[in-house]
Order: sequence, then C-alpha cells, then structure tokens
Amino acid sequence: MPKSLNIVSANCGKVTPGNVEEYVRAGGYESLKKALSMQPRAIVDEVVASGLRGRGGAAFSTGSKWAHLLEVRENPKYIVCNADEGEPGTFKDKLLLEKDPLCVIEGMTIAGRVFDSHDGYIYIRGEYRSIQHSFQKAIDNAVAAGYLGNNILGSGFNFHLHIMTGAGAYVCGENSALLNSIEGKVGRPRIKPPHLAEVGLFQMPTLVNNVETFACIAPILRMGGEAFHAIGTAESGGTKLVCLSGHSARRGVYEVPFGVSLRDIIFDPELGGGIAGGKELKFFHLGGLSGSIGCPAQLDTPYSYECLVRTGLSVGSGAVVVADESVCVVDYLKGVLEFFLHESCGKCIPCQKGIRQMYTIICKLSEGKATQEDMCLLKELACMVTNVSFCGLGQTSARALMSAWKHFEPEFAAHLNKQCPAGVCKL
Ligand SMILES: Cc1cc2nc3c(=O)[nH]c(=O)nc-3n(C[C@H](O)[C@H](O)[C@H](O)COP(=O)(O)O)c2cc1C
Ligand code: SF4
Repeated sequence: MPKSLNIVSANCGKVTPGNVEEYVRAGGYESLKKALSMQPRAIVDEVVASGLRGRGGAAFSTGSKWAHLLEVRENPKYIVCNADEGEPGTFKDKLLLEKDPLCVIEGMTIAGRVFDSHDGYIYIRGEYRSIQHSFQKAIDNAVAAGYLGNNILGSGFNFHLHIMTGAGAYVCGENSALLNSIEGKVGRPRIKPPHLAEVGLFQMPTLVNNVETFACIAPILRMGGEAFHAIGTAESGGTKLVCLSGHSARRGVYEVPFGVSLRDIIFDPELGGGIAGGKELKFFHLGGLSGSIGCPAQLDTPYSYECLVRTGLSVGSGAVVVADESVCVVDYLKGVLEFFLHESCGKCIPCQKGIRQMYTIICKLSEGKATQEDMCLLKELACMVTNVSFCGLGQTSARALMSAWKHFEPEFAAHLNKQCPAGVCKL
C-alpha cells in the first residue's frame, strides 16, 4: 500500500489557484457535469458507497447526512462549508482553500445540485484574511466561466456562493454556533434537536460540511464511490489530509490513505521524517487539542477511525502534533487547558467554571504546589466537564489531560513530589 497519495490534494501546487481553464484541463468540473445528468439519489448513493466521513473532526458519515437531508421536504435548503479551521495544529483546509479553491467550490455546487439549493455559504476563519480575497476571485472566475451562478452550464440550475468570515472564536466552528454567527447572532451553540438538516440556517434545512469533506466530492464522483472507499479501510473510506507540526522533522500537510500506521506518518522519510534534531519521540497529540495524546507504544496502530478509537485515540481534524523528550507533559497540558479556558463561550456552567478549576489545578501541579486531594478533584472535574457540558468544546476539553495522565502517570507523580523530569517546570 502506498504511504501517501494525491487524490484530494491532486491539484495543489499543480494548477494556478482559482484558474478555471487550468482546473478544467486537470479534470476539474468533470464531476459537476456528471452530477448535472444524474438523479440526486444516485449522487447520494455514490457518497454513501465512498464511506466518506466528515473531515471536520466529528467523523459523522457524510453519506448518512446527505441521505437524511434528501428526505427533508422543506425548501429552500442551504449548503454551508465550515472553513473556520480553529482546531490548533490543523492547517489542511488552508492548503485546499489556498491551492485548490475550485475543488471546494465544485463540491459545494454538486451538493447544491443534489438538494436543489440555490445558495451556499462558506464560513472562512477570520485569520485567513488573504484567503478570503483569493477565494472570492475563484468564485468570480467560476461564475464568469458558467460553472457557478445562474443557469450553470446551460442546465437551468442556479447556485450562488457567499463568503462569510469568523472573528476568531473557536466555538464558532461548532456547526450550530457557526450558523448563528452567519445569521449575525452571538456565536454560541444551539440546543439540538432540532437537527440542522431540519432547522438550520435561517431556520431552514441545512447541510454543513467541512472544507476537506466537500473537496472529496468531485474525486468520489469521478472515480466512483466504491473505488474511493477501496483506498482506505472497511470503516474509513479514502484518504485523509494530516497536518504534522511540533517537533516533526518535516512539518506540513500530507495526504495518506487510511490504514497507514502512525509510525509511517511520523517517521516515514516522505511523510513526517521523524523527530527534528534526531531526538526521541515522547508523545503525539492527535486531532487537535480536543483529541487524545498517544505514546510511542501506540505507533503501530493503523491510522483509521476504527483502529484509533479502539486504542483511545481519534483522527479528529487530522492534526498530528509531535513532541520530543524535552517537553514536559504537565507544562504542555497547561497550554491545552489555557486554550479551552480562553475559548469557552460561557453559555454553560460545567464548561465555564470546570475548565477554570482544572486549569488552576494543573498550574499548581506545574509549580509543585498540588496535593493528592487536588488530583482527586482534577479527575472528578474532568469527568464532570466531559459528561455534562453543553457542546463538544467542553465535552472534549479534558481528553488530552486524561489520555496523558494514563500514559505518563509517573510524570504527574513526580510533579506532586516537586520534580519535573523534563526540567521544564520551575518547582
Ligand atoms: C468547538 C468545536 C469547534 C469545531 N470547529 C470546527 C472547525 O473549525 N471546522 C470544522 O469543519 N468542523 C469543526 N467542528 C465540527 C463541526 O461542528 C461539524 O461537525 C462539522 O463542520 C461537520 O462537517 P463534516 O461532517 O464534514 O466534518 C467543531 C466542533 C466543535 C464542537
Ligand atoms: S460547553 Fe463550553 S463552549 Fe460549549 S456551550 Fe458550554 S460553555 Fe459554551
């Protein structure tokens, strides 16, 4: 099995971003043409067959999501692309938006065709300011060439794309908070149900998918759902863009087929290339700060939704943060909890207060001032915040802490005894 592939990222670096002529020459818009002659149900069947799961982090089956929305009778329906990319350590949507915007636009247009939607919104992370401009140019080019806007390719189908921008709040990446933000409301999560497929943007049925998810749609229609699925594993169809950062020797975005091992991703000379400066790997953090921390003993786990979950890890956003032996786990976790403390929207008390308390205790631990009682309380808080928080932000805020505690218990105990094995904390 090849360790890297270029399917979703095939055009990145090969075509001038947003140039329709070059995109078409590279096989672009073949899938949209195909979609215009297919029944919506047949397109959804291909997505189901592809085994595609949402690439934004929650890994929900895209085929099931599309099939559900197809059953909803109410109109108009909206197509929304989540380009908030707020998960630390994640920069793969940036690659697609920058290097192949037309692939994302084509995926959204195909979705528009499936659901007879006439308006799509892409919510681009506020910090990606230059992308907001280049993406608008790509939209304008697609409209001018007849692939977007009114009467697409003479089919009578109209689809318009609008860019909306975030203002830097991580919680606005949560799909219902994102819709509130587009509507000009405070970007806080909504109560679910009702599901967004029934009551979404402007109270109408809505499809929300991640940038990479939409970018998979054209390749799926081009090669066929089953062929796409066959690249990956039984429950993880296709490929995944992974983002290597931290102490990786070759930081960057790589497209890998599901099923390669974590060892391959981190150490293969054509992928992560090992640890910078020839140091030892201490741990890796998968899926962003909301994901779990793994240790070297887990390196032979195949990178797939099903295999990672079995070992307490997850694909999440595709982030792979690599940490070498110089990193103190407790100090690292302080940064993780500080992030969640800063980003908690304050709507619910378990998250707002619980994360603050966890952060206070981890700070005490890093200063050598924590007690056994503090550690018991920390475990209780982690459990409470995970189980009772209103949205995914609070529910995942203690994942890194709990997984690191499992693998590095002696390092936690050392800090209780006022020692930092990595020599990082001032005790
Ligand atoms: C706090 C929080 C932040 C999130 N941030 C993002 C994000 O930046 N980008 C994204 O695609 N999904 C993000 N998600 C997941 C979305 O809620 C949603 O699952 C996703 O956009 C659905 O698209 P997909 O099925 O294609 O992954 C976030 C979820 C939570 C709880
Ligand atoms: S869990 Fe946190 S981010 Fe989510 S609604 Fe509650 S306070 Fe807001």
